[in-house]
Amino acid sequence: MTFKIGLLGLGTVGTGTAQILLDSSGRNPLLHEIEIHRVGVRSLDKPRSVALPPEIITTDLEAIVTDPEIDIIVELLGGLEPARSLILQAIAHGKHIVTANKAVISRYGAEIFTAAEEAGVYVLLEAAVGGGIPVIQALKQSLGANRIRSITGIVNGTTNYILTRMQTEGGDFEDILADAQKLGYAEADPTADVDGLDAGDKIAILASLAFAGRIKLEEVHCEGIRQVSAVDIAYAQKLGFTIKLLAVAKREETLLEAESIDSEMLQVRVHPTLVPQTHPLASINGVYNAILVEGEPLGQVMFFGPGAGSGATASAVVSDIMNIAAVLKTAGESHRLNPLLSCIHQHYCAI
Ligand code: HSE
Repeated sequence: MTFKIGLLGLGTVGTGTAQILLDSSGRNPLLHEIEIHRVGVRSLDKPRSVALPPEIITTDLEAIVTDPEIDIIVELLGGLEPARSLILQAIAHGKHIVTANKAVISRYGAEIFTAAEEAGVYVLLEAAVGGGIPVIQALKQSLGANRIRSITGIVNGTTNYILTRMQTEGGDFEDILADAQKLGYAEADPTADVDGLDAGDKIAILASLAFAGRIKLEEVHCEGIRQVSAVDIAYAQKLGFTIKLLAVAKREETLLEAESIDSEMLQVRVHPTLVPQTHPLASINGVYNAILVEGEPLGQVMFFGPGAGSGATASAVVSDIMNIAAVLKTAGESHRLNPLLSCIHQHYCAI
């Protein structure tokens, strides 16, 4: 069986995704059955670091999402439009979706998941939060038995990289940010990273999943790291703290048994925080992300790993593609949405 992919975007993550798909040796044999059918880019003139046949690359993105031969659209364009419209168009044409686009999901998740449910297709987004860290499916599958009390995370690699370098070597904010951009960590417009909006999108998604609600970015208090100075960092260190940009979603203890909750019943916030040096999140440095989940009866569990960058994020994208391919392969033509894979639908559609 062959699963045909339409890849939208050949930037940092798109390139990493194509590289994995073109080099399947030593990986899961299912990868041999996944083929990059067409690739959509904004400009044909840009030099590319991945060897794809030029004839499959086009700037006609609509032709890709409507191509009857394509099974799965992998949306790695970033930004709101045309990403949202192309995802919806692809769903209307019966395509499954894999996306790393936290901005589109946090703002238009309800619209997209409702459309996907009606069309009977999957929308998977493991790469949208925590880069290569498998936290999305874990929240709904492996932790599914828990009442989640709180999620506390470092979910933006760029700002953690900047804060870590400010702390360890001093240095100029703008120079360190430029390095993060060169390394492929920052968004095309890095203000989303620096002002806490990227982390806001991610905690809105995690909170929606964990608390079976629908939390929108507008409901998240977002404060970035622009105001954090070298002096703040030095004083924090002297007092036994480290400064981290934390994303927090927490529900009141009295609401632990509520079936579904909204933002009024939650604290959802992103801001620089004084973290005691003994806390597990204090030692998460550089581009690494970590997400500490507290649930009942489990207690605390922490997910840790590279939170941004080409290979790490592509790892999550390709694993999502493979999860869809594996389910389709087992179920054949008459597939019904597998609730374990598509459980996110129920939650986004709940409200
Ligand atoms: N700009 C994001 C970050 C990329 O720095 O974490 C991964 O979502």
